[in-house]
Amino acid sequence: MGNLAITGEKPVRRKPFSAWPIYTRDEARGLEKVLASRNWGGYPFPNKIADAFANRFARYHGAKYGLAVTSGTVAIEIALKAADIRPGDEVIVPAYTWEGTVGPVLMLNAVPVFVDVDPDTYCLDARLIEKALTPKTRALLPVHLAMRFADMDEIMRIARERNLVVIEDCAHAHGGKWRGKGAGGTGDLGCFSFQSSKLMTSGEGGAMITSNLEYYERAQSFMNCGRASATDQFRHRLIGFNYRITEFQAALLEAQLRRLPQQAKIRRANMNYFEKRLGGTPGLGFLKRDPRQTRVAAYQYVFKYSPEAFGGVPRAAFLGALEMEGIPCDGQFYEPVYKSALFPVDPNEWPALSWSRPEPLDLRGRYRCPVSERAAYEESVWLPHHLFLGSRKDVDDIADAVLKVCGNISELRGLRHPAIEHKSMSRADRPRVEKRQY
Ligand SMILES: Cc1ncc(COP(=O)(O)O)c(C=O)c1O
Repeated sequence: MGNLAITGEKPVRRKPFSAWPIYTRDEARGLEKVLASRNWGGYPFPNKIADAFANRFARYHGAKYGLAVTSGTVAIEIALKAADIRPGDEVIVPAYTWEGTVGPVLMLNAVPVFVDVDPDTYCLDARLIEKALTPKTRALLPVHLAMRFADMDEIMRIARERNLVVIEDCAHAHGGKWRGKGAGGTGDLGCFSFQSSKLMTSGEGGAMITSNLEYYERAQSFMNCGRASATDQFRHRLIGFNYRITEFQAALLEAQLRRLPQQAKIRRANMNYFEKRLGGTPGLGFLKRDPRQTRVAAYQYVFKYSPEAFGGVPRAAFLGALEMEGIPCDGQFYEPVYKSALFPVDPNEWPALSWSRPEPLDLRGRYRCPVSERAAYEESVWLPHHLFLGSRKDVDDIADAVLKVCGNISELRGLRHPAIEHKSMSRADRPRVEKRQY
């Protein structure tokens, strides 16, 4: 028997952390009001609460117009459509992100072009964009990930020089700011997710924001079955779909937006404290802070574990041990999309991957993005945001557990345990072990 919970000792923590999502009478009142109104749907569009929420949400992020839609993935599809991304157009995406950033590009029969991320931020590395541009490039799609922003100054400079559209994926960045401007407000369009784990949630949902009336009108038509937009100044006519949210979802989101600033403050203070506690620990690394990111949005706290500094003990063993100490955590939160089992692209199924090429573009075989691969498979540690919504004592428990595992790492050498096995699995395989046996 050793010192760690995974080898039979007492865990640092048995108590659960703050629950997520959080709701109060505010959500309940909003839901009851919608129920009693009998106006439950998104139709007729724009419906009252969804429209008011979407516009408030847009203004909160420094944009003029907002649309509330069924998911973050759909928000990206709508943004691409609003920007008139056409079959065969190329869209630059970071390799390290959720598949939902990239799938919509394919859905419009456009071509995603993967670029590696910056090791300091885990966000799209703006220094690598120019090398990836071709005459077919039409859009840049940075993702603000891991409490950080992609370098929006450089991204906007490149975009303006080459007449490219910038779509910010802000699924992790509700309330964050770059140079005083809200996430999604610097680029031409911004996309958010309200899926259940996100910083604001209605179970499922998403939003697209923009200050460009023409984009807003096209997006409105696309998400509302092709109907004319409310202003219809540009008279675009296009095939659209039903991507409207219900008034119930909008009522939940109204309440969540009111609570967001207060929660963000607590998370930020707790995360700063956590970083102070762990700072200087050999073998652990931290993402860089950029003063241009004037407000941090922390969806997950992300840091680096260096297996080399711990005698080659792999990250899965570190994570398995940490989880057994009572701290929920993840490593393969994301994979480079081109390697992910959740992205089984057959080039023959996506015609644009063959157009004017000697042979179909094999997205899965073509790319090698070393920073993304190291982040995904070796070093990144992801702690869910709700762990940081509680007290200082919660944060002390997390830090104590991390330090305890680091201090007893030799106990993990060669150890086999279901928790370690779980942590080394790809996300595509995980549902099979949803009910954990450890
Ligand atoms: C970075 C990123 N982009 C896009 C999405 C897609 O959002 P949704 O799950 O609401 O479709 C997510 C959600 O997990 C995400 O994390």
